[in-house]
Amino acid sequence: HHHPYQYQSGPGPGQNPPSSRGLSTRRENYERDFPLYKQPVEVGCFSLDSERRFFNDSRQMRYYSEPDRNPNFDLKDGYKDRFIKRDESVKEKLDHILRWILANRSKVSSKAATTASPCALDVDFVTWRGHLTKLLTTPYETREGWLLAVTRFRNTLYISEVETEAARREREKRTERHEEMMYWGYKFEQYTCADNVHSSPDPGGVVNTNEAFCTVVQTRLADHRLLFSGEVDCRDKDPTAPSPPACYVELKTSAEICTPKQRSNFHRFKLLKWWAQSFLPGVPRVVAGFRDHDGVVVTMETFPISKISHLIKSEPNCWKPTVCMNFCSDFLSFVKRAATEDNPSVVYLFSYEPHRDVTYSVHRDSPYSFLPHWYVREMTS
Ligand code: A3P
Ligand code: MG
Ligand code: MG
Repeated sequence: HHHPYQYQSGPGPGQNPPSSRGLSTRRENYERDFPLYKQPVEVGCFSLDSERRFFNDSRQMRYYSEPDRNPNFDLKDGYKDRFIKRDESVKEKLDHILRWILANRSKVSSKAATTASPCALDVDFVTWRGHLTKLLTTPYETREGWLLAVTRFRNTLYISEVETEAARREREKRTERHEEMMYWGYKFEQYTCADNVHSSPDPGGVVNTNEAFCTVVQTRLADHRLLFSGEVDCRDKDPTAPSPPACYVELKTSAEICTPKQRSNFHRFKLLKWWAQSFLPGVPRVVAGFRDHDGVVVTMETFPISKISHLIKSEPNCWKPTVCMNFCSDFLSFVKRAATEDNPSVVYLFSYEPHRDVTYSVHRDSPYSFLPHWYVREMTS
């Protein structure tokens, strides 16, 4: 069985020559046995408050409060007058995760650090869960490309997303309807989450998308040791619930399903994204609110992540978890082989455009450099 990526000196004999030094994104190259993916372990968490300030604790944790089966939540409520939106033009890169690492170094380094010899991290990759979600869905992504910046520093590979020109244009020309629909998902969270175990949701409050609770997990994909963080919507409020991440709940909204075509699209596109996002950190269930065209949640349904791969099997030509995981694993191997220079100011920029191979370019002391001086200084001194 040949490797799905190949270094080529020029176009081969066939048509459609692959770019040189590229990684294939073709599904058929990744249909092998499911790779080893260790049960993710939570090694810590952090919170971002209403002004996006970092706290090394769980103060922003919320508790799931099960609604009625047919709740009639109006997701439009408060959009005009009780909504504070995070400034998406501010690019935080890996900064919050790096802050967490500095505050918790003993948890990610095997040897004790001394002032004379600060130790390296015990992981191969540090990134956001969302970046890994994009990697998992790449073999099925036909619309949007991505850019991932990679820096090797003290033998750990840091992966941070760069917004593509196309994504920036889309963000800047969003319609009012689209802006309002993006609010709906957060409003649903407010209807279903309480601030503490003994309180109830407060739909009359302000929705502030600066606030976040993030889990930090450690796991292994094939021979890649990963440390990543992801935002968690809420947890089971039952004190006897299993420990994190097994007690976490991912909340989603989706358009009501009325036709076989809509059901098929839901399985083929939405469940792929939902599965990838929650499978990575070991979040066991998604609670979905299905809404009508007017933004009113009419029905609720729980999707256990372990059942999603069975649910989609009846769908012809559907996505496969093994393709997602094998592509991600091979991409990480590709990164290890490409990003060889250990230097905090060097960026290897990996680029994906739909229907193309993944390629990369190298940048020294460029605007792509993303490891902050405070992090490099603290990790070196
Ligand atoms: P829905 O997913 O219910 O639409 P998350 O589900 O990841 O916790 O994100 C919460 C909400 O943020 C989403 O709720 C959606 O409203 C908004 N959101 C997240 N990612 C988005 C994206 N790429 N584009 C538009 N809205 C997004
Ligand atoms: Mg969320
Ligand atoms: Mg959610």
